[in-house]
This record gives sequence, C-alpha cells and structure tokens, in this order.
Amino acid sequence: MTRPDALESLVSLAKRRGFIFQSSEIYGGTGSVWDYGPFGVELKNNVKARWWNAMVRERDDVEGLDAAILMHPKVWEASGHVSGFSDPLIDCRACKARFRADKLGDAACPRKPSKQPGEHADCQLTEPRQFNLMFKTFMGPVEESASVVYLRPETAQGIFVNFLNVQQATRQKVPFGIAQIGKAFRNEITPGNFIFRTREFEQMEMQFFVEPGTDMEHFERWMQARLDWHLGLGLDRDRLEFHQHTEKELAHYARAAFDINFDFGGTLGFQEIEGVHNRSDFDLRQHQEYSSKKLEYVDQANNKRYLPYVIETSVGADRVTLAILVNALREEAVEGEQEGRTVLGFHPAIAPIKAGVFPLTKKDGQPEMAERLAAALRKRFPVFYDEAGAIGRRYRRQDEAGTPFGITIDGDSTANDNVTIRFRDDMGQIRVATSRVAEVLGRYLEADHARADSRLVE
Ligand code: GAP
Repeated sequence: MTRPDALESLVSLAKRRGFIFQSSEIYGGTGSVWDYGPFGVELKNNVKARWWNAMVRERDDVEGLDAAILMHPKVWEASGHVSGFSDPLIDCRACKARFRADKLGDAACPRKPSKQPGEHADCQLTEPRQFNLMFKTFMGPVEESASVVYLRPETAQGIFVNFLNVQQATRQKVPFGIAQIGKAFRNEITPGNFIFRTREFEQMEMQFFVEPGTDMEHFERWMQARLDWHLGLGLDRDRLEFHQHTEKELAHYARAAFDINFDFGGTLGFQEIEGVHNRSDFDLRQHQEYSSKKLEYVDQANNKRYLPYVIETSVGADRVTLAILVNALREEAVEGEQEGRTVLGFHPAIAPIKAGVFPLTKKDGQPEMAERLAAALRKRFPVFYDEAGAIGRRYRRQDEAGTPFGITIDGDSTANDNVTIRFRDDMGQIRVATSRVAEVLGRYLEADHARADSRLVE
C-alpha cells in the first residue's frame, strides 16, 4: 500500500502554525536549511528530552556528553572522513544541475522531469567525480591550509576521542555507553524533502563500548530498544521496519548495520530515520594510531586490556520530528459540519502546547478567570491562551497545532468554579472542578491519547 504524500500540505501547515520556516526566507531562502518556530522548537525539544531521558537519565550504564562542533582536523583523517566521506557527483553542463551518480535513476531532468538526467537531447553529463560532504572553514584570522577545520559531519567522533576521559571520570566498567545530542553538517549534493535531508541537522548518538566477542548480542538488544523508543513516541508500528545493510551498503566503519525505516508516504516511502551500527574497534583503533595515545580499556577484575567494540545508535532529531508530523497529520470530516478539520494527533507527551485555555465570551469575568487558570497551569505545562473569534475556530486552530486539550471557561464556570475540558482526538468533553485541572492533565499526559476517558478523571 502506498500512503498519500503528506509533505506538501505539511510544509504549508508547518509555516502557518509556526512549526518550521525556511531559513532566511526574506532573502529568498537558504538551500535546504530550516528554522524551527515557536511550536516547532517545543516539539523538537520534547523529542530530544525523551531521547535523553531514555538513553541517559533512566540508565546507569550510559553517561552524557556535549562535545564541541569544531575538532582537531586530524580527527577527520583518523575517522576516514577526509578520504572517504564523499558522494560521486555528476554535473550537467547544459542546465547546470548536479546529481548524485549513484542516485541518477531517482532524479529527474530539470528540462523534462518525466525523463532521467542524460535522457534529454540537450543533456551534457560530466563523468562522476568524488565530492567531499564536509564543510570546511578556517580557525583563526588566516585563511591558509594549515588552519583548515571542519564542521563535524557526525557527533560520534566527539564521543570516541573522549572515551577514556569519560570512563576514568565516571569509573564506568565496560559495557557502558556515552550519549550526546548536537548539530552536524553535511554539504549534501541532493538535499530536500523538507527537513528530511538538510545541510545542518541535529543528531542524537550513543556509542556503547563492549568487550569484543559480545558485540552482536549487544547489537541485537539495542536494535529492539531503539524500535521500542520510536513506538513510544506514537509512531505507528506498520510504518516502521528494519532494513539490514547489504555488504555494498555498509559504511567504511561498520561490521553490521540495520536502519530503522519509517514510511513517509508518497514517492519517499520507507526511509531511514535511525541507524544501529556495529562499528567494531575501528574508530578507537584509528584514533589510537593517529594520536599515538593508548585508548585501551583496562579490565582489572579479569586482568585484561583491550580496545572495546562499539555499538552505535544514531538518530536524526529533525528526521524523527518529520516522521512525527507525518504520522500525526490527518484530515477528518466532522459530523454536522460542512468543513472538515485538520488535526495533528501527537502523543500528548510530545505535543508542543498541552492545553488551550479559552473564555467563551469576553465578559462576565470569564477572561479574568481563564487568565488566572492559564497562569497557574503555565507553571507545569506549556499553555496557549486565546480569546479571539468563535470558540469552534479556536478549537480548530489548536487541533491543527496538535494541542491535546482545550479548557473552556463559560457562565457556569464563574458561578460554580468548574471548567470544560475538550479532547482533541474525539472532541469529547468533560466537566471538572477548576482545582483539579492540572491533576487531570497530568494523568492524560502519561496516557497515549487525547480522548475523553472517565477512568482518567475519577
Ligand atoms: N554516526 C553515524 C551516522 O552519522 P548516518 O546514517 O550517516 O550515521 C545517522 O546518520 C542519522 O542522522 C540518520 O539516520 C538520519 O536520521 C540523520 N541524518 C543523516 N544525514 C542527515 C541529513 N542530511 N539531514 C537530516 N538528517 C540526517
């Protein structure tokens, strides 16, 4: 089954509702770089916080790290990125377009999109040449080859070079992991599909250091743990699959690799959102050789020393955010209404705004009571106060932003100190005492839906 393409409607919804804007839009935009607006930054922060909690805070065998983006240039020689992190590039001299030689079959000729590059009479394709994907810049005031540094293309190397620092400071014993979240940069030849492939993005990476020989058992355990994490975000099971790398697909460092793929629908279909890699001792061995510093782990209890193998889990924060948006978007008919509604049905725990607070009218003390309630709730949850327009329209705006709960203050509220909570997913409503609103929302945030459910209110 091919799912419909949601990307086009998402790009305009994301802009309209303040999730994602094109970078430097007033200057015509920067190619494949995006800015997160007020709702987008909350959503992505929630994704990152859930990852950090699951990978670092809830485990005693993984430590956190925040390494710098700029690193010693030798790091990238040792890691193989200077010599090997490149894609084969083909230019068309006629239309000046650039293509990845290995993806020519998926590309369209700009002059005749029904044809592939090279199939139009005007096409003049060059021979493929290797194009390194790392961004180069200069450290210090002099632009010369001795001061070249790179913007990191993956966060992982910051972990490898700090392996012994972290191990010795925390006195962790193998097996243990180091995790970090941070920006990475790749001068992609064919970026695109909104925030799917960009030139600046955020990775959430974890390297788990294990004794050689135990690596495949840890590899399998991490594959399952990572799939479970994506399910916990509310991604549909039938939109997720594992893809095992063939010998040809394996990266230069990998002994075995699986991608976790998500079905984005349309022509994009199933695509990688996370990679789980068995990197063997490739990186530590390379850094040991290039730095001439011993990076071995000393297992005192068993009187052994060795370079650990590494199981890596590497997931893009932006790509997961896109998967969440695609998974959540739905257009629905509404009984008794001509216009349907657009809903972002996020899991309540990752929704950017948890509740909209609405006085039904702008009089009779309702706005004052609503503002007091919004101010109290803000201490615990991101809340949006809105008194503009018909109540139905205010609900629709919040449905489109993925806000799971709407709290309405009406005439009865000011008389009896209670409010209506309206649920995004089934539009059901319940009445609760004002003093209980925060407690009821708290229970709902732990549930995985935003439907009226009397068990959560008792
Ligand atoms: N350290 C291993 C590594 O970087 P990767 O498969 O190249 O592996 C891991 O990248 C993840 O980073 C991908 O699954 C994807 O989610 C994200 N990613 C990679 N390139 C990206 C890009 N150009 N734009 C957005 N996300 C990207």
